[in-house]
Amino acid sequence: MPGLTAYVGFFEICPPKTGEHAHVFVSAASGAVGQLVGQFAKFMGCHVVGSVGSREKVELLKNRLGFDGAFNYKEEPDLNAALKRFFPEGIDIYFENVGGKLLDAVLQNMRVNGRIAVSGLLSQYNLEQPDGIQNLMYLVFIRRIRMQGFVVFDYCSIYPKFLGMVLPYL
Ligand SMILES: NC(=O)c1ccc[n+]([C@@H]2O[C@H](COP(=O)([O-])OP(=O)(O)OC[C@H]3O[C@@H](n4cnc5c(N)ncnc54)[C@H](OP(=O)(O)O)[C@@H]3O)[C@@H](O)[C@H]2O)c1
Repeated sequence: MPGLTAYVGFFEICPPKTGEHAHVFVSAASGAVGQLVGQFAKFMGCHVVGSVGSREKVELLKNRLGFDGAFNYKEEPDLNAALKRFFPEGIDIYFENVGGKLLDAVLQNMRVNGRIAVSGLLSQYNLEQPDGIQNLMYLVFIRRIRMQGFVVFDYCSIYPKFLGMVLPYL
């Protein structure tokens, strides 16, 4: 199920455009969903950076999973500055797994016509008072960003297509 979630979110909701060398950011990037999103993006020739919660996971993404870059969000007091460091030209595709402050920082760093697939909002699930998002204006002025949520169970019909792609790689 997490594998199909990665497949649907990346290929059906926010795929790279033909000929685009997309810059892709994935949060919770070492999780069941995020690690596959990063690998799918690499198959498609994208530049991929992930955020994770420990130095060990940063090394895992860079050395085992083929990510181009990774950072530990717990060691970044200014998430906006961290994203600017990893994406000096901005983000084309954001695969959202966590929400909250990271989403707010991502919105400031999206490129024009960027796409955000909302898979989940891990950082918000157990809060009594969810974080407010302050940078929604970036969806409009002037970035023209498309942000779309999805639920994997609406895509059961493409399960064979998903297996057809991933099984040879196993
Ligand atoms: N839309 C759908 O149909 C669908 C289906 C399945 C899953 N999902 C969603 O996809 C997302 C990823 O799921 P998963 O199965 O990959 O999760 P997972 O394998 O359980 O990985 C979760 C990771 O998220 C990170 N995390 C936990 N709390 C966090 C916080 N407060 N802020 C930032 N990161 C946090 C942790 O990694 P670090 O140590 O690196 O922070 C944790 O190991 C979730 O939001 C889940 O709800 C959606």
